[in-house]
This record gives sequence, C-alpha cells and structure tokens, in this order.
Amino acid sequence: MPEPAIRAPNDAVVTITASAIRGTDLHMIRSTVAGMVPGTILGHEAVGTVEAIGPGVRNLSIGDRGVVPFTIGRGYCSYCRAGHYAQCDNADPNGPAAGTAFFGSPKDTGPINGLQAEYARIPFAHVGLVKLPESISDDDATMLSDIFPTGYFGTKMAEVGDGDTAVVFGRGPVGQFTIASAKMLGAGRVIAVDTIASRLELARAQGAEMIDYDREDPIATIKDLTGGIGADRIIDAVGADANRPSSGPAAEKAGQRAKQFDQEVKRVAPETNPQGDNWHPGDAPSQVLAWSVEAVAKAGSIGIVGVYPPAAQIFPIGQAMNKNVTIKMGNTNHRHYLPRLVVMVESGVVRPSKILSQCEPMTDVIAAYEAVDTRQPGWVKVELVPAATA
Ligand SMILES: NC(=O)c1ccc[n+]([C@@H]2O[C@H](COP(=O)([O-])OP(=O)(O)OC[C@H]3O[C@@H](n4cnc5c(N)ncnc54)[C@H](O)[C@@H]3O)[C@@H](O)[C@H]2O)c1
Repeated sequence: MPEPAIRAPNDAVVTITASAIRGTDLHMIRSTVAGMVPGTILGHEAVGTVEAIGPGVRNLSIGDRGVVPFTIGRGYCSYCRAGHYAQCDNADPNGPAAGTAFFGSPKDTGPINGLQAEYARIPFAHVGLVKLPESISDDDATMLSDIFPTGYFGTKMAEVGDGDTAVVFGRGPVGQFTIASAKMLGAGRVIAVDTIASRLELARAQGAEMIDYDREDPIATIKDLTGGIGADRIIDAVGADANRPSSGPAAEKAGQRAKQFDQEVKRVAPETNPQGDNWHPGDAPSQVLAWSVEAVAKAGSIGIVGVYPPAAQIFPIGQAMNKNVTIKMGNTNHRHYLPRLVVMVESGVVRPSKILSQCEPMTDVIAAYEAVDTRQPGWVKVELVPAATA
C-alpha cells in the first residue's frame, strides 16, 4: 500500500507502534458485516506517534504519542457535543445518514483505511488521537482503542449500578472488559456465559461466576442463581456471529429453532466465503438476543454492543415488551469514554494487559487471523507490532 499523506487540514499521519486483531475484523471476513472494498486495510485499534499534522490540528505536535479511538467523530456537531461521537454528522464521507465512520470500514461507512499497518492517516486528529502518558505501555494502550471503551459502554447502556447482578454473554476481549467495567460500576455479582475454556478461566480470574452453555442451560442456571428473578442487567458482547449450543440441555432447545437460525444466517450473511474451518459466520444470529430477554429480570435492562448488520431483523420484541425491559444498543462512542479510561489505566485501577494475560505472540498475521477466527485456546487478543517497530 502507498504510505498515507495529509489530505485535509485536520489530518494527522501516525507511525503505528502497536495494533491488534479483534472480533469486528472477523465480521468483515465472515461476511456478517458486508460491503468491504477489496484493498481496504483492516484494523480498528492502534497506538502510534504523530509523524505529520495538518494546519488545522492545534492540540498535537510531531512526536506526540497517542491512542486512536475506533469510531471517528469530527467534534462539533450536536451528536459529538452530546458524547455520541459514533453518530457524528460530519465524519462519514457518505453523509450524515450513512452510519458510523470507523477505521477498516466497508463502503457505506467510508471506506476508511484501517490501522493494521505501519502508518495511518487519522482524519480529524484533533479529536481522533488521544494523547497517552509515557507510563501507559503499548500493550495496555491498544486495548484503550476499542475493547475497553466498548465493554464500558455496554455496562453504561445496561445501566449497571451498585449491587446489581449483571450477566455478560460472550467472554471474548469485549466480554472480559465488560466484566471489569461492571465491577468498576458497582455490580454485586457478574455472571459470564460462553463455552471456551481458556476464556472461561480469564473471566473466573476476574471474579465472574461462570456458565458454560454447552454443559448447562444458561437460562435455567441464571434463574437458579438469582432465586428465580433473573438478572438486573444484561450485556450482549457476542453479536450476529453467535453460535448455538452443540451439547447439553440448551442444545435440545436450540435444535427446535434450527430452521429459524438457518434462515437468519442467510439473511445476515448472504455471501460467505468459508475455507476449511475458517471464515464461517456464527450459526445462531439471534441466540444471544433471545437468551438476553429470557434471562433479564422484569423491568431490567439490556445493553447490546455485539454487532448486528442492518439486514438483521431478529429481536424478540414481544417478550421484551411484556417484561417492561429497557434496551439500549449501538456503536461505541469511544472518544467520549477514552479520556477517563486513560486516567483509570494510568492510576493503576485497571491494567488491561493483565485482563488479557493469555495473549499469544504473533508470528504471521494470516495465521493469527485464522487462530482468532476459530477461537483457538489462548488466542483471546492478538497484538500486532509492525515490522518497522518490532
Ligand atoms: N458496538 C461496538 O462499537 C463494538 C466495538 C467492538 C466490538 N464490538 C463487537 O462486540 C462483539 C464481541 O467482540 P470480541 O472481540 O470480544 O469477539 P470474539 O469473537 O472474540 O468473542 C465473542 C465470544 O462470544 C462467544 N459466543 C458465541 N456464541 C455465544 C453464545 N450463544 N452465548 C455466549 N457466548 C457466545 C464466543 O465463544 C466468543 O468467546 C463482536 O460482535 C464485536 O464486533 C462492538
């Protein structure tokens, strides 16, 4: 790829010192987020150093080190000023109604080249590059780009507060930071649902109560753990690539919905390109939404950060309505939360690299993508270090 250059007054060009692979990159390849233009650089997370700045960037200097928020905002529309940076009126080149602008994005939301590269152009860098203190390492800072703010946003949307019982579906990187955030916001108990043993252990190390959906029915267990009430707060940290249980009592129930799940997959991922074990979309797009509504207590609340494409029409609205449930969802307003999360990392309240202590060293980016796609044991979060800075 040609090296990026300043194209607009508020651009910066950044030398990337660390990037990462995460769940949304896989949606692009599994086709649960469609419309990628061939040749677009992937990647949503980066830490880097300013190499060049346009004349409109008044708060950065050459050589400053910072973290790049995944979603892009310009900073002056009513949405940005209210903290809804992901709904900025001015960042998406396709216009205010086109959707959230983000790095490594499909045609409709850019396309804007991503951050798994040696250099990147950061549009609206006066807002889109948050300076980092020297004391925060690249390992910790890459997780501030996206997954920590996303976990935090999920718990805020679910209105987690003092004493609440919160259930987190999905124990990927986003799920792990959702658990950490729920604890920070005062949750009394956090219950985490997934089936991958290594991810289960990471969540247990954070003090979450574990449910393996391939061994027990998560709904029956949540009801049992909460005296029949259900959970006050639920966070969906899985999205459209959800899987159905393959064994245990929950598999039987999912089997009854097999036809519906198959139709949903065709709708959310009409054009897939699987190769062997890789790049398969999840086989039960609505599973976590259905479980969320079943597991939530009456008058409880649900925050959805797992990504669903515009084609998805799969929410159990009737059941939710009849429980007086509050539901919030969306793309994370990373920039809104980033400054306060930087302070939490700097002060040692949260050490992101400790939460994901099982990161594997990367030897080959394609092999890393393949391992993350099939969720191999230990491959929870993969940091990418460009050859130039390794
Ligand atoms: N809203 C946003 O702005 C935003 C930002 C970042 C990530 N995301 C999304 O958050 C989601 C999670 O991201 P990630 O990087 O942690 O992904 P990931 O793929 O690493 O993790 C997803 C986890 O969900 C588990 N899972 C699958 N089916 C399940 C089920 N039925 N019940 C419970 N768990 C199930 C998987 O085993 C896996 O551990 C993705 O959809 C990603 O795109 C959204």
